[in-house]
Amino acid sequence: MDSMVLNGADLMAEEVEGVVQYLAKHFGPESAQARLDEALRQESSGPAAAQQPPFIPVAGVYQLMKAIIIPNAEVVWNVAMEAPQDDPEWTAVQNSALTLAESGNLLMIGSRAKDQGDWVKAAQALVDEATVALRAAEAKNEDALLEAGDRLLRTCSGCHRQYKKSPPR
Ligand code: HEC
Repeated sequence: MDSMVLNGADLMAEEVEGVVQYLAKHFGPESAQARLDEALRQESSGPAAAQQPPFIPVAGVYQLMKAIIIPNAEVVWNVAMEAPQDDPEWTAVQNSALTLAESGNLLMIGSRAKDQGDWVKAAQALVDEATVALRAAEAKNEDALLEAGDRLLRTCSGCHRQYKKSPPR
């Protein structure tokens, strides 16, 4: 209503009230017209688009690397230096591998995805390789975890070679 008035609709205050009620009744969220509009909108954008959940990315790619990906990768790689000694230490490695795997999904959301081709493949590779590390940590299999750590590093470097401007890691 405000924008209609600003755009030149010349209405007295009490008329505004009446028009608001009219619009709310016929076009408000509960109206049959609004439901029909919504149904048509969803149909035209396809079921997949209609089911897109409302992601709200907070961090940029750089912040994701710094705050989530690097510290958790270090926990996984640290096993090469010092094997977990007890169940809580294995749990810590499992949690980091799990966080890394899910962070691959975070890299695919919204504008973080630099493209829908190689970027998404590299992010999916992070999900896959970190999941291999997770399974190894769940099995408390140190050799398998070291092997998974090597492959994980190659996944990081692969994406950096293509997308990171500063010298590749
Ligand atoms: C899908 C692509 C992708 C994957 C996978 C990826 N990175 Fe990155 N990473 C980037 C990009 C892009 C940057 C540069 C971000 C910027 O400077 O804005 C970056 C930056 C970095 C940096 C540099 C941060 C700094 O201080 O400049 C480190 C370290 C890093 N990533 C570690 C990792 C590790 C460890 C992994 C794997 C466990 C990984 N990354 C996986 C895309 C990726």
